[in-house]
Amino acid sequence: MDTREHNQERTGKLQGKLALVTGASRGLGRWIAFELAKHGAAVAVNYANNHQDAEQTVGLIAEAGGTAMAFRADITKEAEVAGLVQEVTTAFGRSVAILVNNATGPQPMLSIEESDWAAYMDQLEFFVKAPLLLTKAVLPGMKAQGKGSIINIGSEVVQLGNARFSSYVTAKSAMVGMTRSWANELGPAGIRVNLIAPGWIPVERHEGVDTSDYARTLPLQRVGEPQDIASATAFLASDEARFITGQCLSVNGGNTFGI
Ligand SMILES: NC(=O)c1ccc[n+]([C@@H]2O[C@H](COP(=O)([O-])OP(=O)(O)OC[C@H]3O[C@@H](n4cnc5c(N)ncnc54)[C@H](OP(=O)(O)O)[C@@H]3O)[C@@H](O)[C@H]2O)c1
Repeated sequence: MDTREHNQERTGKLQGKLALVTGASRGLGRWIAFELAKHGAAVAVNYANNHQDAEQTVGLIAEAGGTAMAFRADITKEAEVAGLVQEVTTAFGRSVAILVNNATGPQPMLSIEESDWAAYMDQLEFFVKAPLLLTKAVLPGMKAQGKGSIINIGSEVVQLGNARFSSYVTAKSAMVGMTRSWANELGPAGIRVNLIAPGWIPVERHEGVDTSDYARTLPLQRVGEPQDIASATAFLASDEARFITGQCLSVNGGNTFGI
């Protein structure tokens, strides 16, 4: 992760807020965590397996003058999520104000014949069950503050409907409905719920993959960078977006329009 290029502007727009980013040991989560910290948030860096990578995220944030701590928890497990939110609030001495539901497990491409219910459930565990568990766990704190921002990381696959990827597409589609329903329910409590739908954003796991064909199809003619998602997340998390809720923001170089 080379943060130097994008590490210029520190607005302080998230000062005093505690953010919990799931799956922040690498990939988009690391960049999102870094960006939120850059704008002043204290950040809980969640991970499941790779302690060293999570500590590296924390180290990058600390080096840049930010505040972060790493917390291990499998966010698909109810007891672990409850423990995670308790640990995070105790460690930082305040409630979570920003929740980013970002973590993902493996995303196998399967034909319908190759798919079984377990394959669908695997995706629903990450993109429906985990956000539900996490949101329920942070809600008392957000309601007490009369404020909060929940950001679900979706995907452009909802609009594209990619073949041989239906378990992932289905689970990401469910996130859209969940976002809108939660926004309606939680708006009166001052809590905003939005979704960011990234296009293909190469991260560590895509190393060596040729992105040029995909990039050529996009109006903006380049593949996305993790910073593009991180910037959108910081915006939606901040008071700059105080009148925005229930929305799906595509960050994909114009590959799709509307949802
Ligand atoms: N990158 C893209 O092109 C792209 C495009 C559209 C949407 N998205 C979405 O963006 C999000 C991030 O994707 P990514 O590409 O950055 O993923 P990634 O690089 O594979 O990172 C996944 C993260 O999730 C964590 N994780 C895995 N299982 C977990 C569990 N049970 N509990 C808690 N954390 C767990 C991993 O932690 P460990 O390291 O500890 O395993 C890791 O930090 C996902 O929701 C994905 O669907 C990505």
